[in-house]
Amino acid sequence: MGKVIAMAGKGGTGKTTLSALIIRYLRKRGLKPILAVDADPSSNLVDALGLKVNKSLGTAREDFFETKGNLPPGMTKETYLEMKLHEILVESPGLDLLVMGRPEGPGCYCYANNILRRHLDLLIKNYPFVVMDNEAGMEHLSRRTTQGVDQLLFLSDYSLKGIRTVGKIRELIEELKLSVKEKHLVVDRAPNGLDPVFSREIQNLGLNLLGTIPEDAIIAEYEMKGRPLLDLPDESPAVQVVAGMMERIIKMG
Ligand SMILES: Nc1ncnc2c1ncn2[C@@H]1O[C@H](COP(=O)(O)OP(=O)(O)O)[C@@H](O)[C@H]1O
Ligand SMILES: [Mg+2]
Repeated sequence: MGKVIAMAGKGGTGKTTLSALIIRYLRKRGLKPILAVDADPSSNLVDALGLKVNKSLGTAREDFFETKGNLPPGMTKETYLEMKLHEILVESPGLDLLVMGRPEGPGCYCYANNILRRHLDLLIKNYPFVVMDNEAGMEHLSRRTTQGVDQLLFLSDYSLKGIRTVGKIRELIEELKLSVKEKHLVVDRAPNGLDPVFSREIQNLGLNLLGTIPEDAIIAEYEMKGRPLLDLPDESPAVQVVAGMMERIIKMG
């Protein structure tokens, strides 16, 4: 059974950046194939990975609603949906990507969602590593898969307000009753040493600090040039600290 690593945290805290850095690490280490799941409707994981996508799980579901009365002879609704799921999977060497897209509007999508959920659960099981980039509280993802999360990484910026928001997001996620093995905190754009006030707040909230990521000028440059973060050089400070974090995560088993 593979390892599912998921990000949570409010917008702009570095979830997509960390997802891409983790995927870069896993690829370099040959820990493949990796499934990347983009479950943030306002995300840009696709760009960070330098992949091209034309369809999401949302569009597959819409296609189903347009076609369901008119399926090719001999094809069941279930087979059709399974085929659609495989159609939207973007494949590249050692790395596949699934984009969830926008959540559905009003209407009854239960039948399609149940089938898609079952197939997504099966798909996830095929990969030794699954990296999920989520919107703040993971609501979208929790409706799409029953699969548990092994390592949930809460992202925060370097502020007390940011860290307290993690406390609130953690409560929201607990209400979803997702099964989560371990939870960690990662502070992005952090200075070298943390202020004792900040460290105390982490302790008060009972969060486990996995590590911090420094402000990285190479990331900023790649972002400006529209270059994928998978191509970041080994000397990028963020790449180096994420390697350390991943080694700790992998040791946790
Ligand atoms: N450590 C870092 N150094 C430099 N830029 C960063 C760093 N972390 C994130 N960024 C930049 O900050 C912005 C927000 O990060 P992003 O990963 O997209 O956040 P989220 O996915 O949580 O909304 C992006 O433009 C990203 O390039
Ligand atoms: Mg994002």
